[in-house]
Amino acid sequence: MKSKDMNAETLPDSSRKDNSVKFGIYIHWPFCLSKCPYCDFFSQIKKDVEQETIIKEYLEDLDFYAEKTGDRVVESIFFGGGTPSLIKPNLIEKLINHIHQKWKCKKDIEISLEANPNSDRKNLFSDLRQAGINRLSLGVQALNDKDLKFLGRTHNLAQAYTAIDEVLQNFDNHSMDLIYARPKQTLSAWQDEIKQAVHFGFKHLSMYQLTIEEGTVFYKKQVEAAEEDVAREMYLFTNQYLQENGYPQYEVSNYAKKGFHSRHNLLYWQGDDYLGIGKSAHGRLKIGNKFYALTHRRQEEEISASERAEELIIMGLRLNEGIDKEKFYNVCGINLAEFINPKNLAELKSEKLIEETQTHLFATDEGRLVLNKLIEDLCS
Ligand SMILES: C[S@@+](CC[C@H](N)C(=O)[O-])C[C@H]1O[C@@H](n2cnc3c(N)ncnc32)[C@H](O)[C@@H]1O
Ligand code: SF4
Repeated sequence: MKSKDMNAETLPDSSRKDNSVKFGIYIHWPFCLSKCPYCDFFSQIKKDVEQETIIKEYLEDLDFYAEKTGDRVVESIFFGGGTPSLIKPNLIEKLINHIHQKWKCKKDIEISLEANPNSDRKNLFSDLRQAGINRLSLGVQALNDKDLKFLGRTHNLAQAYTAIDEVLQNFDNHSMDLIYARPKQTLSAWQDEIKQAVHFGFKHLSMYQLTIEEGTVFYKKQVEAAEEDVAREMYLFTNQYLQENGYPQYEVSNYAKKGFHSRHNLLYWQGDDYLGIGKSAHGRLKIGNKFYALTHRRQEEEISASERAEELIIMGLRLNEGIDKEKFYNVCGINLAEFINPKNLAELKSEKLIEETQTHLFATDEGRLVLNKLIEDLCS
């Protein structure tokens, strides 16, 4: 299928028509039960965390930002990690209630949480639902015991199946993460897993190609992901199979049934504003025509409109829909056509890596495989 056709159908109408700058809140929980050897997300392994003390700080940080942004309408809240399913549900509820007190929230606000399948806490998923979470993202990562072990996960396949059942029972909006292109993984093994994943009936799937990140245990052990051509075949199969089974790709690693895109992640990819609460969380905020990069704790650094524009290109090209030119202008006050390198754009178009309509600039399927090149060429 041509990427242009895909564009027309992959994003919800609301995100195409409403080009105002939206607003969300990201809450980071930087603790895990153990460190997975591939993961370079900031996280600490600590069992006796003083949860109440940390949440008190989070509430204070929310108060601080509410002073500046109290007139904004919250589109989504996202509890990410680390492992936020380790936070006591009553404390999650406290944070959600606090946000509702301090800001006006959208009636259909999306409130997501990333959960690991190995919690030994009984009724975890129903408690999370009760606490106000309405979208659950489950980090399954692999659908066989051997690879779960290799990935250093603390859950096995039986625990993953139990968690999958419980998530499906307790939530209407759910997502599952899997990692593919594992060392020595064959295309047919991945095909079996992806078919299984579709069979569960989650509303959203995130399929991440394994990357060996500097500083991780895999990096130190010189683990190598699946070979490039195998990984490419897996990626192409994933796109095609999920498209045929009701999950069109809408971002490099993300696939959704109609209307179940991650509204929170779309805030990042479409250049909206978001607060970041918690160690290693970051945010972006536009106040008047100034742009701020937010970091822990309550640090803000002004960034220029051009820096923001470049971020919008980096994020926007990840989407099948691409960069919405009008939204781009609304966010950073710069015309996309004036910002990007016209000679390089023409070349990328002739190489069929980029396409353009009156409203959007987007990477083709081939282009999305070489995003770094596109970004470098367009922004130079
Ligand atoms: C914030 S992380 C982890 C969330 C949760 N703690 C978990 O482990 O399920 C979000 C996702 O990024 C993906 N991820 C992390 N490191 C990765 C890597 N090196 N390569 C590919 N995917 C990765 C995993 O699928 C993970 O679920
Ligand atoms: S993958 Fe998830 S559980 Fe594993 S260390 Fe990273 S954040 Fe923690």
